[in-house]
Amino acid sequence: MIYFDKLSDGFILSGKNYSYAIFVNRAGYLQHLYYGKKIGESDLAFLIKTQGEKLSPNPEDINADMLTDCMPSECGFFGRGDFRSATVIAEREDGSVMSSFKYVKHAISGGVARIKGQPCVRKADNTLTITLKDDFSDIEIDLNYSVSDNSDVLIKNTEMRNTGKTCIKLKKAFSFCTNLPDIDKQYSALRLAGSWASERRPVITPLAEGTLRIESTRGYSSHQMNPFMAILADSCTENSGECYGFNLLYSGSFALTTEMTSDKNIRVQGGINDYLFGWELDGGESFITPQTALCYSAEGLGGLSRAYHDFFREYVIDPKRVYERRPIVINNWEATYFNFDNEKLFAIIDEAAKLGIDMFVLDDGWFGKRNDDKSGLGDWFVNNKKLKGGLKPIIDRCKKNGLKFGLWFEPEMISEDSDLYRAHPDWAIKKEGVEPCRGRNQLVLDFTRKEIVDYVFNAVSKVLKENDISYVKWDKNRDITENFSASLLADRQGEFLHRYTLGFYDLAERLISAFPDVFFEGCAGGGGRFDGGALYYFPQIWTSDDTDGLERTKIQWGTSMCYPVSAMSCHVSACPNHQTQRITPFKTRGAIASFGATGYELDLTKLTAEEKEQVKEQIANYKRIDGLVLNGDLFRLANPFETDYFCEMIVAKDKTEAYVVGERFRGDPCDHDRLLKLNGLDENKTYTIKELGVTASGKALMSAGVYYPRLPDCGSWIWHIEKITK
Ligand code: GLA
Repeated sequence: MIYFDKLSDGFILSGKNYSYAIFVNRAGYLQHLYYGKKIGESDLAFLIKTQGEKLSPNPEDINADMLTDCMPSECGFFGRGDFRSATVIAEREDGSVMSSFKYVKHAISGGVARIKGQPCVRKADNTLTITLKDDFSDIEIDLNYSVSDNSDVLIKNTEMRNTGKTCIKLKKAFSFCTNLPDIDKQYSALRLAGSWASERRPVITPLAEGTLRIESTRGYSSHQMNPFMAILADSCTENSGECYGFNLLYSGSFALTTEMTSDKNIRVQGGINDYLFGWELDGGESFITPQTALCYSAEGLGGLSRAYHDFFREYVIDPKRVYERRPIVINNWEATYFNFDNEKLFAIIDEAAKLGIDMFVLDDGWFGKRNDDKSGLGDWFVNNKKLKGGLKPIIDRCKKNGLKFGLWFEPEMISEDSDLYRAHPDWAIKKEGVEPCRGRNQLVLDFTRKEIVDYVFNAVSKVLKENDISYVKWDKNRDITENFSASLLADRQGEFLHRYTLGFYDLAERLISAFPDVFFEGCAGGGGRFDGGALYYFPQIWTSDDTDGLERTKIQWGTSMCYPVSAMSCHVSACPNHQTQRITPFKTRGAIASFGATGYELDLTKLTAEEKEQVKEQIANYKRIDGLVLNGDLFRLANPFETDYFCEMIVAKDKTEAYVVGERFRGDPCDHDRLLKLNGLDENKTYTIKELGVTASGKALMSAGVYYPRLPDCGSWIWHIEKITK
């Protein structure tokens, strides 16, 4: 719902539970007014009077521009007295960059415009576009705001247009700028930081005067920092209090910043990373930035997460796939690494069939001359020496056993020891005369060049056309370092990283459209590209290369801050775990992997008879609860970063059933019985927890709780909760 009040030049944008208000002040600047609980349309005039005017520069005052420094602007600009960092910096031919963006017009339309060549929300109820114009140059900016009555997410992005004749260079082009309300609140910021095998760990720090900047400069969203930040007000907890989320639907290098001034105003903004960024706009050209999903919750971080989960499922992930039952996968990577042949794979496939697995995914090493990670990337044709008869015998074996077949690719990469590199050494990102920087012994293809993306599209398509392939695991195993393309002019090298990202989107879009029956899973050395941009193409993403039964609880907990459980690929792997060497019970690994798109990644032929029985039970359990994984509401109960437990539950939207998984990390001899409060149930319904023999009201289960089970180190529990029908 978007409401415009002509008298006050104000707008109220409202979704399910929030409102966001802005207005054009007397000087013509678009100013932020309110973001929080849903308010009524008639509240706008009062808000402007009481809260807006005091910060509104009076145009009669010749010093008015200086007041912009504390004005809660919806688009920060440089050189007119606002000393905070700008949202957009546009450099003219004479090198000047000062600007003053003022309101020109607005339009309210139904739906939302799709952004060509970039991930974006698939729908919205209404969009408000406010056009600002620079007083001193020919730059116009559209600020877009899209809302949906059924969602707690507000979508913002910007589009810059050069309406003049001379070239303008964008040196910064962020997607959004906003301000936090109420300077008396103590705010803190949550970010998801990590590394390979340890992705998305929530880190919370108080906001204070100065700038907090989280970013990736690696050419993709990265393991180290996710393009998401939540700002928590006062004592916001998991289940109560106010918080705000900012999630960039972008897979490239990004930045999100909060900036607190001495008078405690906080500006939050973000978008494509402006570090070494530049984008030339000739007369008549425009530049459109990635969308940001802003979210407000009055129900703590848990409420924020559930709102984001609904948002990603309903507005971003492919609607054809999002609620589709996910195949239970056996992936051969940790079973064989590069060392496999037909017989080894046949044995795994035969065993998988006996255990009830749906899909065999052949990972790295099937192509070119790839017997280790030093060669073959780019040569997307089968290694017939290794796989006698090509992929066909493997696929036939799957079919005979009733399994589908999936295949691993790393489309953006090239090995120096490959036919592709020998034919096109200039296709790799590097600069003549400078030794290229290698990561995992490989180089990255220059996806800013269309002919290279075309080549990869044709090469991957050929394999997909010639074979019966139902599933693709799309990997990416290194950072981008040189940020240079020989095909870009000297003064356009600042466009490199964003153009690379557009090349990745282009290939994803084309392959997914050309092969609508193939399910594409994302991956980047584990969960290095787990973001809202990638989720537009990949309904699920390999969450982490770390599948250890303990570490995974933390990775999945952190990932769930904003991404739905159904988007996390989670596999049971062997013990001792290949990343941590830890030994955890098979049952625990299965329980943790059931909170996501589940599967197996170990040598099934080496399992004991008892473990095989457990696989069958795990699969039967998963087929019982996978509807909840796809569509339920997640409640995080015991925080693995703060306690010796992990526990989460998923509740059906109609609250008739729920699924709980928990783990006890470390036994404690002095442990006294502790109570675990459940959440998300209907207070007035009666439920049973079969495994505990408990029957109680939702109210009792949520207020009093149930006892944590006593368990040895890394022991786990699974509970099925069902509503009793009278
Ligand atoms: C990455 C992925 C793994 C596996 C290997 C193969 O590390 O995250 O799952 O596919 O590459 O090289």
